[in-house]
Amino acid sequence: MSDFIVINKKINPFKKKILVSGDKSISIRWVLFSSLSNGISTAKNLLISEDVIAAINAIKKLGIKVKINNGVCKIFGKGMNGYNYKKNLTINAQNSGTLGRLLAGLLINTPYKIKIIGDKSLSSRDFKRISEPLSKFGAKFSLKKEKYLPLTIQGGSNLKAINYKEKRGSAQCKSSVIFGGMRSNGITKITAKKSRNHTEVLCKYLKLPIKINNKKNYDEIKVNKVKFIKPLKNYNIPSDISSSAFFIVLTALSNNSELIIKNVNVNSSRIGIITILKKMGIKIKFQNLRTYKGEKISDIKVKSPKFIKPVNCPSSLNSGAIDEFLIIFLVAAKANGISYFKKLSELNQKESPRLKWGKYILEKMGIKTITTEDSIKIFGNPGLKVNKNITIKNYLKDHRVFMTSVIAALVFGGNWKLHDKSSINTSFPNFLKIIDQIKK
Ligand code: S3P
Repeated sequence: MSDFIVINKKINPFKKKILVSGDKSISIRWVLFSSLSNGISTAKNLLISEDVIAAINAIKKLGIKVKINNGVCKIFGKGMNGYNYKKNLTINAQNSGTLGRLLAGLLINTPYKIKIIGDKSLSSRDFKRISEPLSKFGAKFSLKKEKYLPLTIQGGSNLKAINYKEKRGSAQCKSSVIFGGMRSNGITKITAKKSRNHTEVLCKYLKLPIKINNKKNYDEIKVNKVKFIKPLKNYNIPSDISSSAFFIVLTALSNNSELIIKNVNVNSSRIGIITILKKMGIKIKFQNLRTYKGEKISDIKVKSPKFIKPVNCPSSLNSGAIDEFLIIFLVAAKANGISYFKKLSELNQKESPRLKWGKYILEKMGIKTITTEDSIKIFGNPGLKVNKNITIKNYLKDHRVFMTSVIAALVFGGNWKLHDKSSINTSFPNFLKIIDQIKK
């Protein structure tokens, strides 16, 4: 079957209400925490995408029963020490950095060797960033070229708490060490640059022995050994702001359009895109804001603006928008001036080197950019119209490169051939169906 789509028609003005699928970060964490809990956890609106299915397959391999029926996922947790598996287990984290890195923390007490592998994209990503701190607990790791998957964990039995400074603003590194701390004797002390805090929110909701002290630019986290986790029952996973981002930008770049996205997770550590787009003059409102099991949820209303302002994006917003920069760059392409995004080296550590891909897509559309190793200047053109053939094929099959290109094709025109349609299955299998709903 062909794995590309062709788009050669701009989208008409629309006024719609949509619901996007469950949050990927929360879904993976719900699966992992449930696998460690004492009893049956249940969730609705769990994201059923390849990354989350990889998490479910991982805990199944560790001896945990999982059932999915009528949109409800049930996980039969057996407690902190309930994993049961044979020697020489291999777990495939596929495309998911979150799964691979969090699992490594969770498995530091394994009595047998466990190998973690991944797809081509994940195998090109840095795993030393977690093996280094995790080995200080007393577990042994071996990695390809000391940095890459396959990674083998030989757990320790007498694990001791560590002190760890997380300087990148990586929630995956922070969470991996939190899991390590939950398995170790003593108090693990983490000083972490701000990043998404879903792991901490779940720990607090579950009343686990973890203390968090939020400072202005960083967080202090103290983790004690965890003996018991109650099941996460009746958990309704909120919708993903990173998936919503594509439609927020579709509306921002369309004419006379309006969109409401229901039930979106608007955790303050995830809404960098909203702050950045508001600075650029996009009209965005939160409606019906509420708190659910420690997470903030809201409906998001977006209207297309009359014109778009350029932004000099403060780097303090980077971590809260880290998965959204490709799509934000499209907004900068239509701004009335030069936008500047800096200190973005982490963007080249994602499923593909996204700073480079951002530049590539913009230049194909005829937008001038100046990039360094970690920054991009985008010379916006409010009258931008694309009148040519553009082909996008990302050799690492990055889902966000594909979805960003679809939005570009729908708002700027031209004749686009977009490869690797199936990459959406990683995070957002419904993406093209929702595009069709909006078009109708
Ligand atoms: C994630 C953290 C982010 C993000 C990724 C999901 C998570 O990665 O890019 O898509 O669920 O913890 P880093 O923590 O490496 O920045």
